[in-house]
Amino acid sequence: MTAMSTSAEAVVTRAAASFEVGPAALEAIARDFQAQIARGLAGEGGSLKMLRTFTRQPSGRERGRVVVVDWGGTKARAGLVELGDGGSVRIVAEEALTFPDAMKRGAPEPVFDLIASAVGRVARAEGLGAAPLAFVYSYPARLERIDRAVALASTKGWRLRGLVGRDVAAMLTAALERAGLARIRLAAVANDTVAVLILQSYQARGRDPGAHPAAIGLILGTGTNQAADLGPAGIRNLESGNFDGVAGVETPYDAALDRELDEPPPGAQRFEKMVSGHYLGEILRRALVSGLLRWSAAPALATPFGLDSAHLSRMAADGTAALDDVDALLRSLGVESTPAERRAVRALGAAIARRAARLVAAALLGTLRFLDARLDDRRTIAVDGSLWGGYPGFAGLVRATLAELVGPERAERVEIAFVKDSTSAGAAVIAAVAAAQRSEGCSSA
Ligand code: GLC
Repeated sequence: MTAMSTSAEAVVTRAAASFEVGPAALEAIARDFQAQIARGLAGEGGSLKMLRTFTRQPSGRERGRVVVVDWGGTKARAGLVELGDGGSVRIVAEEALTFPDAMKRGAPEPVFDLIASAVGRVARAEGLGAAPLAFVYSYPARLERIDRAVALASTKGWRLRGLVGRDVAAMLTAALERAGLARIRLAAVANDTVAVLILQSYQARGRDPGAHPAAIGLILGTGTNQAADLGPAGIRNLESGNFDGVAGVETPYDAALDRELDEPPPGAQRFEKMVSGHYLGEILRRALVSGLLRWSAAPALATPFGLDSAHLSRMAADGTAALDDVDALLRSLGVESTPAERRAVRALGAAIARRAARLVAAALLGTLRFLDARLDDRRTIAVDGSLWGGYPGFAGLVRATLAELVGPERAERVEIAFVKDSTSAGAAVIAAVAAAQRSEGCSSA
């Protein structure tokens, strides 16, 4: 076969169109999201968990050296972070580690032991004795204090045996003790969305003490989630990846993905399954092998998660006339393609990413309106994550969608700040805030 038949091209065009979500549907999603924030806060259920975080906005004057652990995907990191003047942050040392796939379904202790061993390498290399540690645990957890986090069902493909209901902070502490690192004491546990929010506030206020803090922290990477400063209700971790108000705009590919995946189980993490980096490549793969094109037998395309969002980013970035890089990418996956097929695949990938950006804008609008119904005041959204940083034009798509929904003038009042590599640095600020809170608690007791 040398060229795609016209009918095949039409089929792909139709599939791409099924990923288009119009303004009325987005508006309905934003309203539902806003209503579910209220329900979650009132303890009336709904799909947004609205978890407490036990931290507050930083002043910008926090200081100190903090050991950090960042665990939120297939990789984890241990590091040492130093907070300096003017909202500056220095990563003094960092160690990355990768979890073998088999570990994701095993007992939790080996995971914590692997993390503790990375902390040990940082501690030895830096000659550390006693030090506070901040633990970023980027999965759902119900905090009971700043240093106690009871695991809820995991996301992003993890299901450790017997983890649900246990305190992940205590489990890390126990692993540090097993590794002979008892002098490194866990001071705070936080979600990655909270870390990016707090870091943005710290940097802004460190430069200008009068600066307003970030209102929302957004992660758009392997998973997606929001944290928001809800004033009297405090800073909350929404676990917005679990938002379920997207059923009306799902395609058959989304429905099948949700049904066939066992982790997270059907019905869970519906928003995340349509939006985040862990799933976008898989949606494209499913569309491609559903009979749209003739490639079902290619090994990479026959394997679940054989395509990932980095592939989508790479295809979107290919500006050559014959799509040479898309060609190279498909070849590396064992597929020979015609230029017309490459155009079709690229268009489909772009439609999937565009939908993700539009859904993210709708969810953000839900939170923004909860904070300020008419969007009268300026607000800052702090964002981090590989999809946001890696997919060409993603930020622009989100901004354009916000403007489409609320008009350019109101959209202008929303600042979206990309805070790269925020997790470890943000965690260190959270530990420093916790130390200040503790000493205030002691002096007032
Ligand atoms: C998943 C996790 C959430 C995290 C997000 C981004 O949605 O459940 O806790 O914030 O991924 O990493």
